[in-house]
Amino acid sequence: MANRYAVILAAGQGTRMKSKLYKVLHPVCGKSMVQHVVDQVNELELEKIITIVGHGAEMVKETLGESVSYGLQEEQLGTAHAVMQASEYLDGKEGVTIVLCGDTPLITAETMEALLHCHEEEKAKATILTAHIENPTGYGRIIRNASGQVERIVEEKDASLEEKAVKEINTGTYCFDNKILFEVLQQVNNNNAQGEYYLPDVIEILQKQGKVVAAYQTPLFEETIGVNDRAALSKAEEIMRKRINEEHMRNGVTLIDPSQTYISADAVIGQDTVIYPGTFLHGEVIIGEECEIGPHSEVKESRIGNNTTIKQSVVHESKVGDGVNIGPFAHIRPQSILGDDIKIGNFVEVKKSTMGNGSKASHLSYVGDAEIGENVNLGCGSITVNYDGKNKYLTKVEDGAFVGCNVNLIAPVTVGKDAFIAAGSTITDNVPSDALSIARARQTTKEKYVSKLQDKKNS
Ligand code: UD1
Ligand code: CA
Repeated sequence: MANRYAVILAAGQGTRMKSKLYKVLHPVCGKSMVQHVVDQVNELELEKIITIVGHGAEMVKETLGESVSYGLQEEQLGTAHAVMQASEYLDGKEGVTIVLCGDTPLITAETMEALLHCHEEEKAKATILTAHIENPTGYGRIIRNASGQVERIVEEKDASLEEKAVKEINTGTYCFDNKILFEVLQQVNNNNAQGEYYLPDVIEILQKQGKVVAAYQTPLFEETIGVNDRAALSKAEEIMRKRINEEHMRNGVTLIDPSQTYISADAVIGQDTVIYPGTFLHGEVIIGEECEIGPHSEVKESRIGNNTTIKQSVVHESKVGDGVNIGPFAHIRPQSILGDDIKIGNFVEVKKSTMGNGSKASHLSYVGDAEIGENVNLGCGSITVNYDGKNKYLTKVEDGAFVGCNVNLIAPVTVGKDAFIAAGSTITDNVPSDALSIARARQTTKEKYVSKLQDKKNS
C-alpha cells in the first residue's frame, strides 16, 4: 500500500460564524469541530497528519496538541494556498494524500476509507468525495460532462444559474496523488469571484492534463455538512447527538427520550444505566452501571460509580461513588469526592469536600472545604462556615459523628469521632470524640406573658 498522508485545513477565521471563537474550535457535542476531524483521521493508518493553522493558530495547536504536525498559513488566500503550506512535509513525496476541512465535523473514518478505496480502485490522480443534497446552497457544485466524467468544481459565487441547479456537491474532502498535487497547486490562480486560490480548481487542471479524476458519491450525505454559520452548527450538533445517543443505546444504556438527552462525545456510560430527559453530560464524564441520571440534571467532567441516582441536580468536576443518592435539587461543586452509599438530599451544596461511605446530608446544608468521615449525619440545615471574607478554612467531622439540625460549624474546627452536636448550636471550638456539645442560649419561658400584655393594653 502506498504511503498515506492527511492535510486538514483549519486556518480560516470563519467570518460567517460571527464569533470571537475561531470557527474550527466551535464545539459540536462538547468537542471542537477540528478535533472531531482529527480523531476520525487518526483511525486511518497514516504516515503523517498535517493541520494547516492561521487564524487562532496558537489556540488550535493547544486544542489538538502533538497528535498532528502543523503548517502555518499566515494569510488566508484560499484552500489551495492552504494546502501548499504542507509542502515542507509533503512536497515530492510518493503516496496518497487525503485533504479535509476542519469544519466538516461529522465525517467518519469509514467514509474516508471508502474514498481512499475508490481512489485506489480507479487508479485516479484525484478523487472527490461528493454528495447529493436537496439544498446545495453554499457548496461547490460538481460539473460533469456528457459521459458523466467530472470536469470541474464551480463555487456557488462563480456559478451560473444552470450550475447552481446541480445538486451534487463538493464535500471539501479529496484524495490526491501527493506528488502530482503539489506540482499542480503551483498552477492554480485566483481569477474568481472571491479572489482566492481554490483547491477545487486542481480538479479542472488535472482533467485538462488528461489525468484520471474520479468522484465517490457518499450515500451518507449528512456526514458531509460543512459548518459555516450557526444554523449549520446546530444541524451538525443535532446529527452528532443522534449518532452518540444511538451508540450508547446499542451499548445497553436506556435513554428515555434521546431527542432531549445531551451527551458529550467523550462520555462513557455503563450498561443498564437509565438517562432521563433534560440531562446534559459535558466533557469527560464516566458513569457506571445501573445508575439513574435525570431528569434535568447536569454532570460535567465527573466520575460516577455504579447504582447511583442523580435527580434534578448539578455535579461538576467531582467523583461520586457507588449507591449514592443525589437530589432532587442538589449541587456538587468542583473537587468534591463522595464515597459509597451517601445521601445528598434536596437543597444541599457540597464544595471541595470529601465525604466518607454512608454519610448523609439529607436536607438544606452547605458543606464547603470539609472532610466528612464515614457514617456521619449532617442534620437539616447544618452549615460549614468556611469563609471569613478573606480566607477559607477546613471543617473536619470524624466518623460516626451526629450533627444536629441547624448547626453552624465555624471553621477551622474539628468534630471528633462519634461526637454529638445539639441542634441549633454554633460550634467554634473543637468537639472531642464521644462528647456532646450544646452551644445555644437556654430557653426561657414566661408563663401567661401574652395575656398580661393584652390586659395592659386594655386598661
Ligand atoms: C469549501 C469548498 C467548496 C465545498 C465546501 C465544503 C473551496 C474554494 N470551496 O467552501 O467547494 O463545497 O468547502 O464544505 O475550497 N481554509 C484555510 N485557509 C484558507 C481558506 C480556508 O485553511 O485560506 C480552511 C477553513 O478554515 C475551512 C476550510 O478551509 O476549514 C474550508 O474553507 P471555507 O471558507 O469554509 O470554504 P467553503 O466556502 O465552505
Ligand atoms: Ca466550509
